[in-house]
Amino acid sequence: MAHLADALIHVPRYPFIPRRAWAAPAAAGASGTRGRWIDRDAEPDAWWRAVWSDAAIYTQLDDGATPLTAANAAKTFAPTCSASSPSLVTAFLRHLAPGHGDRVLEVGTGTGWTAGLLSYLTGDQRNVTTIEVDAGLAAVAEGNLRSVGISPRLVVGDGAAGAPSQPPFDGVHVTCGVRDIPYQWVEQTRPDGVIVLPHAPLTRLLRLTVGENGTASGSFHEVCSYMLLRAQRRPVSRLERTEPRIRELDTDPEPLLRVPAEPGLEVLLSDLVGEIPFITGDPGSGECAGILSSGTSHATVEDGRVTQTGPRDLWDEAEEVHRAWRARGSPGLDRIGFTVTPERQYVWLDDPSVSAAHTLGMVERRLP
Ligand SMILES: C[S@@+](CC[C@H](N)C(=O)[O-])C[C@H]1O[C@@H](n2cnc3c(N)ncnc32)[C@H](O)[C@@H]1O
Repeated sequence: MAHLADALIHVPRYPFIPRRAWAAPAAAGASGTRGRWIDRDAEPDAWWRAVWSDAAIYTQLDDGATPLTAANAAKTFAPTCSASSPSLVTAFLRHLAPGHGDRVLEVGTGTGWTAGLLSYLTGDQRNVTTIEVDAGLAAVAEGNLRSVGISPRLVVGDGAAGAPSQPPFDGVHVTCGVRDIPYQWVEQTRPDGVIVLPHAPLTRLLRLTVGENGTASGSFHEVCSYMLLRAQRRPVSRLERTEPRIRELDTDPEPLLRVPAEPGLEVLLSDLVGEIPFITGDPGSGECAGILSSGTSHATVEDGRVTQTGPRDLWDEAEEVHRAWRARGSPGLDRIGFTVTPERQYVWLDDPSVSAAHTLGMVERRLP
């Protein structure tokens, strides 16, 4: 791969950022703010600072139905297009590692910046096909790319179908969150080719290598959360208010409340239970509250007691996964991965040919 640093110099980020947009905090929640409005004409210094920072910059709200204004952007929790944070953009490119002459498919053109970087890294813009579902965004991206002298093949359409009329790609680079990996991406990648994508339910960068046998398998890397592939958006489930089931805890809840410090456990919990515990308060202080929700079920842990509502006992399920994970030697991400076949896709532990649920002797649960 041409040096990524050279690509960033030759295809900088700023030509792809609108004059007015919303800059999210560089590390989500770090500053306790939701970000700020940037306006290149009114406050050029703040605009340039944001563009050179690691902030994701929102460029569209509600698929364009809500105008991108300071007031609307401050309220939204659902931007539908952004220039992703540069540290994630470069992480994906490092994992894809496109070689000179490689043919790459990008799904989710957005602002066009990634397509520009891919064109530089592959050495020829004709090697890059980028698909954007939103015609308005595609037109803006095309203009942004043209302004830096790059014209990859830009298609308006549903990237879930890939680009079937083209010969196999060496790499597929997906920049929207994916719940179910369309098998077409595997079919359209040559054996040994690489697919990188933000795995939405597990909130991690997934890097898959396509095998000779029509399956793809690989491992989880950086934490990331991207806006979803349009057809895979789901309404937020409403909690089911059943009679609460309350019991005293007979095990120490702290290891589960510290899940984010154990990426292997975090991935298995997200896969087998549905979501990682959301923690409020301070583990270790004795006042900590842990909240776990998945689908319509909900569990809270506070003062040595667990309260569970909805059809499932989520805390009990999480404890079971924790015990099984400990019994296998507390595996980290080096022993956990993901496989996609024409028929199914699953998280695995130690053996890519069977699901982690099977290895741990647990009920297989489809990711939400
Ligand atoms: C995070 S942005 C992509 C950022 C982009 N790669 C860049 O460099 O600016 C996600 C993009 O995916 C697009 N998208 C969502 N679903 C899609 C689909 N089914 N096919 C193609 N693009 C899609 C969105 O419209 C949005 O522009």
